[in-house]
Amino acid sequence: MTDNNSNPDEGGETRRDFIHIAAAGMAAVGGAAVLWPFIDQMNPAADTLALGTTDVELAQLSPGDEITVMFRSRPHFVRLRTETEVAAARDVNVASLPDRMARNANLEDSAPATDENRSAMSAAIAEGESIDAGLRAALLVTSANCTHLGCVPTVGAGDYDAWFCPCHGSHYDSSGRIRRGPAPENLPVPPMTFISATTLRLG
Ligand code: FES
Repeated sequence: MTDNNSNPDEGGETRRDFIHIAAAGMAAVGGAAVLWPFIDQMNPAADTLALGTTDVELAQLSPGDEITVMFRSRPHFVRLRTETEVAAARDVNVASLPDRMARNANLEDSAPATDENRSAMSAAIAEGESIDAGLRAALLVTSANCTHLGCVPTVGAGDYDAWFCPCHGSHYDSSGRIRRGPAPENLPVPPMTFISATTLRLG
């Protein structure tokens, strides 16, 4: 039976609506397809991400040992300090330092340059891992480029038996803090995370 009350144009309206919706949908998909290469190229490639981190095996280090690793194309000191070095670094009044800031990427910019804030005590710890407190306190990781003009300081030298930059005579202490000479800042501490009990990831 025919419904005489129905709008004779209803079928046409419905078809037009469908065509409009379908056209809009196609336009959206087309737009996304055009944009995708531009969006996708903004994501870092896997090899770029890999280059952004450096894993350091700590089991190879005994107290007093130091290695230099490359992190983001720059040398970095990784030193497992002796108890004497840690004690000397802690026995310093931060207010007396030329640079009182920790310069530690793991902490707030305003963090003071205590040895605790300079050491790997500031490093993140991966979920589920447990890291020896003595290791965290003894481990120091810093940039190996002098903050004056970028020379690589010599280890075990200078007024503090720690690092001495021979280029223009900057003396750093066993916490990597500038103590004397033209270098304006402490050696920067990079971002770092203990990903296992014996592996530290920089980056
Ligand atoms: S580059 Fe180190 S003191 Fe000048």
